[in-house]
Amino acid sequence: MASHTFPPDFLWGASTAAYQIEGAVDADGRGPCVWDTFTAAGRIQDGSSAAVACDHYHRWPEDIALMQRAGFNAYRFSIAWPRILPAGSGAVNGAGLDFYDRLVDGLLAAGIRPMACLYHWDLPQPLEDAGGWQSRAIAGSFAEYARIVAARLADRVKDWMMLNEPNVVATHGYGTGEHAPGHRLGEEGMLRALHHQNLAQGAALRALRAEHAGLTLGTVINLQPCRAEDDRPENVAAAARWDAVWNRVALDGVLRGRIPPLLAERMAAIVQPGDEEAIRFPIDLLGINYYSRMTMKHEEGHPFDVWWGDAHCDRWTAMAWPVQPDGLYDLLCEFRRDYGNPAVFIAENGAAYDDAVTSDGRVHDPERVAFLRDHLIAVARAAAEGCNVRGYLCWSLLDNFEWAFGLSKRFGIVRVDYDTLERIPKDSYRFLAEVIRTGRVEG
Ligand code: BGC
Repeated sequence: MASHTFPPDFLWGASTAAYQIEGAVDADGRGPCVWDTFTAAGRIQDGSSAAVACDHYHRWPEDIALMQRAGFNAYRFSIAWPRILPAGSGAVNGAGLDFYDRLVDGLLAAGIRPMACLYHWDLPQPLEDAGGWQSRAIAGSFAEYARIVAARLADRVKDWMMLNEPNVVATHGYGTGEHAPGHRLGEEGMLRALHHQNLAQGAALRALRAEHAGLTLGTVINLQPCRAEDDRPENVAAAARWDAVWNRVALDGVLRGRIPPLLAERMAAIVQPGDEEAIRFPIDLLGINYYSRMTMKHEEGHPFDVWWGDAHCDRWTAMAWPVQPDGLYDLLCEFRRDYGNPAVFIAENGAAYDDAVTSDGRVHDPERVAFLRDHLIAVARAAAEGCNVRGYLCWSLLDNFEWAFGLSKRFGIVRVDYDTLERIPKDSYRFLAEVIRTGRVEG
């Protein structure tokens, strides 16, 4: 047993996303988004919807109180684009802005630093109808939206994250169709959606920098070290290809203004002169989401001829994702080595398990406690070795709408009873609160 400590002024808290927790999809002038349409088309595996979800739209004071009791000093939430601009662009819905105004004031009153994320997947349906992330024109719409939100909140919100996980939006939403808007456009569709998100992000970052002083600007990317299943050359090459698609288009786009050389030919028809400069931006803070490594192998018939290999792992979450805390340590160290150690924070890390309420009325979730402990140790070790990691926000505060899995997967450190909407803090909530209180983790 060793005791691991964290750097001073460390950010502690959780992340959430508007569509996954707010509910109230018809309230106060909100417009439809691609996930409403996807749900109505019967694409959610358990047949559930996010129409109510955690009803955070009405219960946010209770949720802030939960954060405060756990000792959080930071919270990343997302702004719902369809609440602000119900048609995607044009007329602004003041009631949508008012909601985030109240939320931000509530967070500040509780001593919690609000970290706003502008896009966590709830694309207004009218923008999708105009081509969504396949259309270059969306860059201008996103920058306009960013400007409108910041004009209202930037006097109090200092931390602004542009996108959440552009790789998932591109691969699942436009490549394989597993997520909204459900297109199966294959490799080219994925790369186009990735590049257009990079362009939108660059435009929004420039707009916010020009219009407001003193903001911390960044974005959130989920980085997954890609390893080959074994050392066969075709598998090593497949892992490198997938690393380029999954990690490097987004990361090298913003940090280096570079299209990964492995994809240059495939992206030649998508990238226009001047784009590399337009997507590069000296961000102040990068949010890293980490869940696991990816173990890949060569297999034809899948995009980029890459498919999942054997992860050689003996611990798995209810998502069937391997539990690999050393992957987070490796990732932070490799990132420091390769990118010159810019400031980062863990913007998401957590696990779904099949929790149950026991006869004592509590939720004992030892697997999640172990997951959090092991990943916190990985972060503390990386920080002790000089990695510039500024905070840890778990995923997630509440059980919530897990996209295509609906309400069936529980990631929260607080259980939500979807019938009564009662919140029950789990053992993992108490564990995290204790780590925050003591500033150390044992293990
Ligand atoms: C996303 C979250 C999601 C979580 C678990 C991340 O990919 O940002 O919205 O719920 O992982 O799948």
